[in-house]
Amino acid sequence: MAPLASDPLGLAIDTTFDDTSVAILRGKREVLANLTLSQFKDHEEFGGVVPERASRKHLEAIQPLLAQALTRAGVGFGELDYVAVSTVPGLLGSILVGLTVAKSLAYLLARPLIGINHIEAHPYANVLAHGELPFPALHLVAAGGHTLLIHQTGHFQWSIVGRSVDDAAGECVDKVAKMFGHAMPGGPAVDRLALTHAPAAHRFPRPMLNDPGLDFSFSGLKTAVLYYRRDHGGDLEEGPVLSAFFDAVIEVLIVKTLRAARRFRPKAVTVSGGLAASQKLRAAFEAAAAEAGLRLLYPPPELCTDNAAMVACLAAHRYAAGRFDDLTLDGRPNLLD
Ligand code: KG4
Ligand code: ZN
Repeated sequence: MAPLASDPLGLAIDTTFDDTSVAILRGKREVLANLTLSQFKDHEEFGGVVPERASRKHLEAIQPLLAQALTRAGVGFGELDYVAVSTVPGLLGSILVGLTVAKSLAYLLARPLIGINHIEAHPYANVLAHGELPFPALHLVAAGGHTLLIHQTGHFQWSIVGRSVDDAAGECVDKVAKMFGHAMPGGPAVDRLALTHAPAAHRFPRPMLNDPGLDFSFSGLKTAVLYYRRDHGGDLEEGPVLSAFFDAVIEVLIVKTLRAARRFRPKAVTVSGGLAASQKLRAAFEAAAAEAGLRLLYPPPELCTDNAAMVACLAAHRYAAGRFDDLTLDGRPNLLD
């Protein structure tokens, strides 16, 4: 294998769930291309992501997206120094599409292959946006599939210290939005309504808020909205109700994150994942962190939702450390297996 490049050019692929994403990164932070093709319209008629269909859509999308990313970056395959791919967690059939393409490229180009944990990559959106993370760092990853608190003491050294015991926060928001007739993913619509409507007087439950631990629960909150909607039928005002509901989600996320910060005393707290694209969540987090005297790092919205640039950024750190995988690299659907 060739000696390590000092300013490597990396390709990263993410096909873990319903977004096909390809990025090209120079060094650790210079994003030359970051293209994401969302599938949510392809699954709309089914009311949720159909795994078989997702794999097929990735297969259709990946080749043109790769070509487009190379053109955008103005580079050729031969110039790449490594090939990275997210291998966990997600839909296995979808992961295998990206993994197979990445393995083929790494083999044909004779370049290192780097398998990335998609969850570990989310906070690296903050490295792209703000520079290297100070350690120890505490990360809230609030996405459609996961709600996690992660304590990181160095690159590749992290542990999950809190997680949702049932629905992820984003999943809960999407399901509640769907009850009100919003298309998937409903997070942006809920955020918009919450920003423009004062919350209804009704106070929705804050599950596990008084539990001293760092775990979350969101399915009870979703059910509380379902019952509230059933009991108030026709005279329900969507904006104020969704605003009150979103306040409950936000409060739980912030209180648990601040509790974890008191326990781990991080040098920075980061927020990432699709839900972090919410302007309302962001404003509330910024106010709470300022009051608690915490350094808060927040990526721009386009780096909060799933993207391959964050995967490339973590991969660039792996490349610099010479931590590669071989062609036996496998995919895993579950984070904790
Ligand atoms: O990180 P992500 O793109 O995918 C997963 O890894 O799951 O997160 C998707 C989640 C969905 O629940 C979606 O509704 C939510 O992020 N989301 C938002 C916004 N954009 C995406 N929630 C609130 N406001 C937004 N602007
Ligand atoms: Zn994600």
